[in-house]
Amino acid sequence: MKLLNRRELLGHAAGFGAAFALPSAAFAASDKRLAYPPLLDATTSRLFQLEARTGETRFDDGAASETFGYNQGYLGPTIRVQAGVETRAEVHNTLGEPMSAHWHGLVVAGEFDGGPHQAIAPGDTWKPVLDLDQPPATAWYHSHIHGATARQVMLGLAGVLQVTDDADDARGLPSAYGVDDLTLVLQDRQFNWRGRLKYDPGMHQSMNGFQGDTMVVNGQIGASAAVPKGIVRCRVVNGSNARVYRLSMSDSRSLHLIATDAGFLDRPIALNRLTLAPGERAEVLVDFTSGRDSVLKSDDIINSAMGGMMGGGGSGSPFTVLPFAVDTTLPVRIDALPGSLDGQLPDLAVKDAPVRRLSLDMSMGMGMMFSRSGNRFSINGASYDSGTLNFSTKINSIERWIVRGAMMMHPFHVHGVRFQVLSENGTAPRAENRGWKDTVLVDGEVELAMKFEKPASAAAPYMYHCHILEHEDGGMMGQFSVA
Ligand code: C2O
Ligand code: CU
Ligand code: CU
Repeated sequence: MKLLNRRELLGHAAGFGAAFALPSAAFAASDKRLAYPPLLDATTSRLFQLEARTGETRFDDGAASETFGYNQGYLGPTIRVQAGVETRAEVHNTLGEPMSAHWHGLVVAGEFDGGPHQAIAPGDTWKPVLDLDQPPATAWYHSHIHGATARQVMLGLAGVLQVTDDADDARGLPSAYGVDDLTLVLQDRQFNWRGRLKYDPGMHQSMNGFQGDTMVVNGQIGASAAVPKGIVRCRVVNGSNARVYRLSMSDSRSLHLIATDAGFLDRPIALNRLTLAPGERAEVLVDFTSGRDSVLKSDDIINSAMGGMMGGGGSGSPFTVLPFAVDTTLPVRIDALPGSLDGQLPDLAVKDAPVRRLSLDMSMGMGMMFSRSGNRFSINGASYDSGTLNFSTKINSIERWIVRGAMMMHPFHVHGVRFQVLSENGTAPRAENRGWKDTVLVDGEVELAMKFEKPASAAAPYMYHCHILEHEDGGMMGQFSVA
């Protein structure tokens, strides 16, 4: 397979902070056109059905890989649901192992959240009710079986969820699915010499999280997105197990941030670079009115415990995420950026809110060096235990969480709530973190504010965890109830 040859030519040996395969010279459009996940529109039916199944997926011109998907061989459909409208889901498992469908970004009661306590046994169907009592946002869904999440997501059990209110035309935003409103699931993967998906994390990847050497967008390698000669909206989902992207355009045109994880901003923010950690989503507008092609690229962020000990991360040379090719036969629906948006920035009253301190820890003991399994990761010294409730809180209470990460950057995610980032290392949050969030990259210490508005019983608690999936599976996770 050519990508692997490229890696060999570049001499990227494995090792701490292993570099990416694709050289900057690869910034060119290919004639393979990017396809988007099928749209599953549940806005009027108020019901959608998912079936977890096995697939045979050919990522490139190599051999087929054995994969998992929802309703298809790899990944799942983009589910569109209506804000404010109660929607039912039916998730059926045809796999030979338990899986789940966690609605990452939906604020729903614990029993419908799809975390490890809602595992669906082989042959079973789970029927949650989603009240969708939240503003429009790009959310996503993925399996969440403790100890198996990293592998199951790697194999394909993930998809995108759009909460919509049908007001995007009024907002002046692109909304034609796959034409000017593009869903982009970013994942890095590794393939063996036959072209088969390879996931066999050794000590280094178990510790830092898996980082692949091949960029896969919507389950495809080396494709280009055809775009109209107008304004294009990209809903970017970091569905990677561990890779942090720092995105920019090859010709340094701006990425106009319009929405963070959990909703719209009050106005677009023009960024040269956008950092997106695993689990995070960002909606950006890109201006193609000039008719010029461009390439979405990323710095190769090194995020490793060793790097952290030796004085911080760093980043290698940029690689191609996705080339864009203007196709003048596509309809131009929006040709100017909106001046403002109707999103409400978070502004929670935290004056007297109780403070909770969490520290995300990696143990560097002998067990970690020599064992490939077991819990090496913890929060406040405790590795995840499904039978232990780490704390409980009250409905409608507001809390301030101070989250500190050890040794490397950790994307921290909380279920059942949207939060405000009050500060990052004592300073005002960077642009990517000013809107409503449910996942935030912890590089040092962050201070969050959140209000718990949905219930979660002790039997169906909410999770909080690092979204580096190997860390989560290794125990960097806790659970809480909301009474
Ligand atoms: Cu996206 Cu608890 O997960
Ligand atoms: Cu989640
Ligand atoms: Cu982590």
